[in-house]
Amino acid sequence: MYIDFMKIKKLDIHTYAEVESTNTLVKEQAVLGAKEGYTVIANRQTKGRGRVGRTFFSPSNTGLYMSLLLRPEEYGAKDAVRITTMAAVAVCEALEVVMEDCEHRPQIKWVNDIFLGKKKVCGILTEGSFDSKGMLEYAVLGIGINVYPPEEGFPEEIENIAGYVFSSEKEGEKEKLAAEVLQRFMTYYKAGKDSEYAEKYKQRNFVIGKEIYVLSGTGRQNAVVLDIDEACRLQVRYADGKEEWLDSGEISVQV
Ligand code: BTN
Repeated sequence: MYIDFMKIKKLDIHTYAEVESTNTLVKEQAVLGAKEGYTVIANRQTKGRGRVGRTFFSPSNTGLYMSLLLRPEEYGAKDAVRITTMAAVAVCEALEVVMEDCEHRPQIKWVNDIFLGKKKVCGILTEGSFDSKGMLEYAVLGIGINVYPPEEGFPEEIENIAGYVFSSEKEGEKEKLAAEVLQRFMTYYKAGKDSEYAEKYKQRNFVIGKEIYVLSGTGRQNAVVLDIDEACRLQVRYADGKEEWLDSGEISVQV
């Protein structure tokens, strides 16, 4: 895979035709002591993983599956969400760069999904390891983008919601997208917690004002989204009037 290394020269990029999961591979390297910036990009994943134990459909040739090792200083559990949200903004901006005639503006469904119109085209999975003081030892940022329609179509369970960026293959486009995402993410990440990405994250979210379900192990609760703050937390009001700021979790919303 050719990538414009000039833009992202501090990353140590490894490309594979097939892996079980780029996140799993980078986690293994993290445990062995790999440095921040260790990156894996694969053409196919046989055990691609999504949030809350789901699988991430990762067929050959049509998707971009990549994971990046981060070793941020002074990130506690509550800061970990920033990695996902910085990546979400980076993906939206990168998509706008590569799509010339953008029918839909890329939008975010809190906390980690990117949509074009009513279709999810990208999911983000950040996995962390914490020390005894609750600080992040390392994080693996995993990004999966459906760049082209899968050759065999999407599996039935996601065919109504999953979409793709381009309807036909364009030479070099996956590589360009990868470089744009990584370069933009690194810019926000290096700027740190005070970078201007949080306002962009809020502006691109389509959930504000919407009725949602907040999903948990015990079930789901009806709520309305009130706001997203500078830490990218979601403010919700439940049907009983109680309000809460969520810094992680899963919601479902009608798109
Ligand atoms: C989700 O939508 O629930 C998140 C999906 C994250 C998928 C990416 S693809 C690259 C990396 N490797 C994985 O196994 N998962 C992430």
